[in-house]
Amino acid sequence: MKTQRLFIDSFLLILAAFINGAILVVSPIPVLAEALPVSPQKATPGVADCLSCHGQPDWEMTLPSGDILDLSVDYNVFRQSVHKDMQCVDCHIGYETFPAPHNEITTKNKREYMVSYHDTCQKCHKE
Ligand code: HEC
Ligand code: HEC
Ligand code: HEC
Repeated sequence: MKTQRLFIDSFLLILAAFINGAILVVSPIPVLAEALPVSPQKATPGVADCLSCHGQPDWEMTLPSGDILDLSVDYNVFRQSVHKDMQCVDCHIGYETFPAPHNEITTKNKREYMVSYHDTCQKCHKE
């Protein structure tokens, strides 16, 4: 029957999307992006999308002051953090446009960089 067939198809699609997501989490390489009939650009990028780049190890950038930002994000650390159920973009506002490049950073050192996130924490944590 037609209705039933449609149901099975969408079930497989969901399954495929799920499996693809699971693979992306463990692998830094953006695999299967075009093999699936689902849209590769989700409205909001998820953790796996960000980790497709930031999951790679030993990756840093240097701020004008010489301070170093560690660009590698370890998923095993993230999923044990208090914020494990959040999306990266819940805190990294303005990074929704996917893929990178991101907006240019204007902060000159690590301290300024961290302070620039203050308002973001306040969204959920009032003092
Ligand atoms: C295509 C690769 C790629 C993807 C995907 C990616 N990034 Fe990045 N990201 C970079 C690069 C390259 C840099 C180094 C600085 C730059 O070019 O902006 C960076 C730097 C950063 C930084 C530190 C510097 C800054 O701009 O504050 C943060 C935070 C960040 N990314 C967050 C994210 C989040 C959140 C996502 C998912 C929505 C994401 N990135 C997805 C490539 C990527
Ligand atoms: C609860 C809020 C929050 C969540 C969720 C979050 N971040 Fe961050 N992230 C921050 C803050 C604040 C900083 C800057 C201060 C610091 O280094 O700790 C930061 C810094 C970064 C940096 C720059 C490195 C550096 O040394 O400052 C990258 C890259 C990054 N995050 C990527 C990610 C990715 C990818 C995810 C999702 C897996 C994510 N973040 C989830 C709050 C968050
Ligand atoms: C989108 C909402 C959201 C944002 C933004 C957010 N947090 Fe959280 N945060 C939470 C939730 C939810 C918990 C878990 C609270 C619990 O388990 O009782 C939490 C827990 C914490 C905890 C553990 C202690 C506690 O109060 O339970 C700390 C520390 C913390 N957050 C710091 C930060 C910092 C620093 C930032 C900014 C980088 C930030 N949070 C941004 C939602 C958020």
